[in-house]
Amino acid sequence: MDERIEIGGDNPYPVVLGEGIDLAGALEGMIEGGPCALLTDSEVGAHHAGEVVRALERGGWRVVSVVEVPPGEHSKSLETYGRAAAALARDGLTRDGTLFALGGGVVGDLGGFLAATYMRGVGLVMLPTSLLAMVDSAVGGKTGIDLPEGKNLLGAFVRPRAVVADLAWLRTLPEREVSCGLAEVVKMGLLCGGGFLEDLALVGAARGGDMVAVRTLVARSVRFKASVVASDERERGRRAILNYGHTIGHGIEAACGYEIRHGEAVAVGMLAEADLSRERFGRDLLGLHRELVGLAGLPSRAPGVRVGDVLLAMRRDKKRTQKDVHRFVLLRDVGEPVWGVEVGEEEAGRAVERVVA
Ligand SMILES: NC(=O)c1ccc[n+]([C@@H]2O[C@H](COP(=O)([O-])OP(=O)(O)OC[C@H]3O[C@@H](n4cnc5c(N)ncnc54)[C@H](O)[C@@H]3O)[C@@H](O)[C@H]2O)c1
Ligand SMILES: [Zn+2]
Repeated sequence: MDERIEIGGDNPYPVVLGEGIDLAGALEGMIEGGPCALLTDSEVGAHHAGEVVRALERGGWRVVSVVEVPPGEHSKSLETYGRAAAALARDGLTRDGTLFALGGGVVGDLGGFLAATYMRGVGLVMLPTSLLAMVDSAVGGKTGIDLPEGKNLLGAFVRPRAVVADLAWLRTLPEREVSCGLAEVVKMGLLCGGGFLEDLALVGAARGGDMVAVRTLVARSVRFKASVVASDERERGRRAILNYGHTIGHGIEAACGYEIRHGEAVAVGMLAEADLSRERFGRDLLGLHRELVGLAGLPSRAPGVRVGDVLLAMRRDKKRTQKDVHRFVLLRDVGEPVWGVEVGEEEAGRAVERVVA
């Protein structure tokens, strides 16, 4: 049975979750079939684009264009954006059209930005195929591309018409990417606490491909992210809690030239930030963090990364406002995040040191 999780707000939309979803059927009654384009990357496209195109056509959609970009973060670039937009124009996607973004967070972020800007906006349907995209990037409306000067510097908030997450797509997802998605799941479970924390016991089974476990964790994550985003869509306050593990995590990613996967950097970042949390609030959650990160098959350290490089990247991070303090999301306890906690350079450096040495 498919499950529908409503994302509230001005233009509410559903996240449809299931295994082996009838795509056209799931959209019926919600979005009228019409001209559309499919954006994907060549990896995901090779596995799933044909089946998605056939499903759309069966449902009365007219697929005018299938645009494939190379897999990986490099496709969140002005160059790829320009090429994809040109392809849509050449193939004749009209203003009343819809863009389906089939892929991981890269295709979702690029496709969302493309849908927001192509002809001043066409419809968007997110078809997340990585675990990370299902639990995190496809929900919440942030889209964008990178500049040589930094990640996600060009973007827009966009509400998709729908998100359809077919867990069957995960069967072709490499193991390492499953672990990366679980990093965000663990993050949200720690932020949420309660029943979600208890369900984090399923992380090991989910990693091993147990679809019941995966589904439980995806549904939990989508609901949690939806509730946080609903309270603060434009990230003026509480939405910032979703950056737990990301302040140091982003610093580590940048310091190693994005050679480490985002989820892996976030896992290491959470351990460093759990350490800072303990120093600030006295509650020691390091053991719990280590256990969960281990269950997910994620690293707890990033050896060989230089502390100075991490701090430099953190200073450059666009979310920072003041010069010599870093702003962190820390945990007073499980389920009790505190955001905007100011941490000096030295204290931050010590926390980084412990996970990179
Ligand atoms: N918009 C947001 O709120 C938000 C939140 C978190 C992350 N992000 C962004 O998401 C991106 C990371 O997303 P990601 O981890 O999904 O990366 P990704 O899109 O690069 O996907 C990871 C890899 O898995 C492959 N893949 C995806 N689904 C597959 C499948 N079903 N079968 C086989 N291979 C598959 C892709 O081809 C790629 O090689 C980053 O750019 C990050 O900035 C955005
Ligand atoms: Zn993240």
